[in-house]
Amino acid sequence: MTPLKHAIAVKHKQAERMPFNVRMFRGELSPEAYAGYLVSQRTIFDTLESNFHLPNQGFKRVAAIDKDLCELQVTIPSPDASTLSYANYLKSLKQDQAEPHMYLNYLALLFGGQIMKTKVPGSGNMYAFENIPDLIASMRRIQRDEWADEVNKGFDFVIDIFDELESVYYREKVFTK
Ligand code: HEM
Repeated sequence: MTPLKHAIAVKHKQAERMPFNVRMFRGELSPEAYAGYLVSQRTIFDTLESNFHLPNQGFKRVAAIDKDLCELQVTIPSPDASTLSYANYLKSLKQDQAEPHMYLNYLALLFGGQIMKTKVPGSGNMYAFENIPDLIASMRRIQRDEWADEVNKGFDFVIDIFDELESVYYREKVFTK
C-alpha cells in the first residue's frame, strides 16, 4: 500500500460506511435520492473542472452527469448545503492544493465507482470513462504522499455530504413546536 493510501484508509472506511453510501451500494437508493447525489457530484466536478487544470481531459464529468440527470426524469434538486461548503472551499484553493481533491473525487469513481455503476438507478454514465488505466496512470504521475491531510479534509466534506443526503431523503422528520 502506498503511504498516501495508508494515510487515508481510516477516512475511506468511514465514508464507505456512511448509511447513504451503504444504501447506494445495496442498490436501494430511490431515483430522487440518487438525483440529489448526482447534483452534489455535478457541483463538485463542475467546480474542479471550471477552476483548475485536470491531469487528463478524459476525467471531465459534467456532461455525463447531465445525461444521468436527464435520464432519471425527476425534479432536479438544488445542491445540499454541505456540497456548497465543499465547492466554496475548493474555489479558495490554488491549483496544487486542488489536486488532492481531484485524486479523491476522480479515483473514487474509477475504483469503488465501477462497482457502484451497476447498483444505481439509470445507466450510470457518471462512472463510464474512455480509458480507465490511462486515467489512473495520469493521476499516479502527479500524486504525492504529502497530499494526505488535504485528501482527509476532502473526505470530511464527503462524509458531511452523505450525512446531509441521508437526512434529506431518509431520516424521519422531527417536528418541534
Ligand atoms: C461503497 C463505497 C466504496 C467502495 C466499495 C470503494 C472501494 C474502493 C476500492 C476497491 C479501491 C481500490 C483499492 C485497491 O487499490 O486495492 C478504492 C480506492 C479509492 N477510493 Fe474508494 N470505495 C468506496 C467509496 C469511496 C468514496 C466515497 C471515496 C471518496 C469520495 C473513495 C475514494 C477512493 C480513493 C481516492 C481511492 C484510491 C486510493 C489509492 O489507490 O491511492 N472511495 N475504493
